[in-house]
Amino acid sequence: MQHNRLKAVCPIQVLRDTRYLTRQIMFKGKACSAIIFLFDGLPYSYVNHCMHMHRPLNCEQDAIFDETGQFLRCSMHGFIFDPTTGVCQSPVCYGERLQALRLQEIEGILYFAEKHLNLMA
Ligand code: FES
Repeated sequence: MQHNRLKAVCPIQVLRDTRYLTRQIMFKGKACSAIIFLFDGLPYSYVNHCMHMHRPLNCEQDAIFDETGQFLRCSMHGFIFDPTTGVCQSPVCYGERLQALRLQEIEGILYFAEKHLNLMA
């Protein structure tokens, strides 16, 4: 296993105790943030960047889910996304996707498993 490509996010238990986390990252040479959350008990992560007008999903509210808890939601204009695929469900950007970030859990610790990702301080 190539542990050197793994970057620790947090113990998975931390995600069970919160709605979501963000981490500042460099991904493919660009500084951005990542959202990390559990959905139906499984961990997911995406670059925190709505393709509509290039805002973080939590730019207007400290939330990334809609009121049903079934869809990610950008707080700027309310576009929603499938949390398991990142695919936008709103008409203007229908079918476009949030950039997914691979995660890996090893012994209760969650890691980013992306070659072109580095954590920022
Ligand atoms: S910027 Fe996200 S819905 Fe408009």
